[in-house]
Amino acid sequence: MRKEIKLTVSLEVVPREEWSDIEIQMVENAKRVVDHAHAPYSNFMVGASLLLENGKLFEANNQENVSFPVGVCAERAVLSYAMGNFPDTKPIKIIIVAKRRNDQVWATVTPCGLCRQTINEYEVKFGSPIEIMMLNPQGELLRARGIDQLLPFRFNDLNG
Ligand code: THU
Repeated sequence: MRKEIKLTVSLEVVPREEWSDIEIQMVENAKRVVDHAHAPYSNFMVGASLLLENGKLFEANNQENVSFPVGVCAERAVLSYAMGNFPDTKPIKIIIVAKRRNDQVWATVTPCGLCRQTINEYEVKFGSPIEIMMLNPQGELLRARGIDQLLPFRFNDLNG
């Protein structure tokens, strides 16, 4: 039997009653920008709210393009804006919500691979985990304590 390298990952399920005030605010902000997503090709509308260490909140949504790979996810849009303007302020938490156009219920959403690698970039830059929370159709938040829970065996270091 070969030696194995095993990593265990988990998401916590956080019911509405246990959300902090800032989490309530972030979910509200993310939901507010969902309707302004530019998603005419997938009709999958995503909103992301980002909390920085100084308490500032930012939101963005997905911006698609007729040349499909050009489209940008909500997570990368908000991180690019915040990190471009506040390059020295640590990101603490990102909350994501999603809805299919004309659906009444919130969709299940987790960050795509590109966004996971982007979140990893800022964890490495600031040397601390970024919490990722995702609204599910049951109205609960799924919490990943850091990108290690979503991107095990990630690429982290060119010289490592
Ligand atoms: N999308 C996001 O913005 N964030 C996610 O976490 C998942 C996917 C976008 C990309 C594309 O515009 C649409 O949702 C469908 O994949």
